[in-house]
Amino acid sequence: MSNNPIGIFDSGVGGLTIYQEIHKLLPNENIIYLADSKHAPYGEKTKQEIIDISVKNTEFLLSRKCKLIVVACNTASTNAVKYLREHYEVPFIRVQPAIKPAALNSKTKIVGILATKGTLESELLFETSQKFAQGVKVIRQIGEGLVTLIENGQMHSDQMRLLLEKYLKPMIDKNIDHLVLGCTHYPFLSDQIQEIAGKNVTILDSGEAIARQTRVILRQEGLLNTEKKSTSRI
Ligand code: DGL
Repeated sequence: MSNNPIGIFDSGVGGLTIYQEIHKLLPNENIIYLADSKHAPYGEKTKQEIIDISVKNTEFLLSRKCKLIVVACNTASTNAVKYLREHYEVPFIRVQPAIKPAALNSKTKIVGILATKGTLESELLFETSQKFAQGVKVIRQIGEGLVTLIENGQMHSDQMRLLLEKYLKPMIDKNIDHLVLGCTHYPFLSDQIQEIAGKNVTILDSGEAIARQTRVILRQEGLLNTEKKSTSRI
């Protein structure tokens, strides 16, 4: 069982930012990455649609004998992981926007979060902000259109630059000192975002934390792969 693969899914290439961190931390693990481009973007779908898609992805990964599933998508994590955990026995790792470290380290007590509509409107995000960002103002911004541009290979286009400026400038004007990337596609834009936001804004994503959490759960469940050779199928 411990030689079985870890399954990872997202609406397309975004979860590769999580895959990279997991592969770095757990080089012995076999990994299957499911890029569900057919249903991208998830961010504008209803909760029920996101649950249905996540169930299909889970069934696919289980049919490939995955021992653990990483939902490498904030939108599916915030909307569907509760359902998945209630209906399947395999352990699920979910991603969570890094609101807690942003709030803890903020000096201005104003932080920004850029994420999909589906994530920003989820109950889980609301609860996380309530729990971890007491006394800190959290400015939310939907990154409409960003995932589609990334999926279409237009990451460095003028259109991308214009959208990023439109979304980021109002948050910067409100004096945020931390910006949470609440969508696994967005770390691909980190350099552009940093350039627009300036060096006084710290950009946070959850890739490393998810990889560490995956290792904790694999260890806890006795599922760590100790064989040297690993394979990835993407
Ligand atoms: N990368 C995903 C996320 O973290 C999906 C975005 C989308 O498909 O809209 O939310």
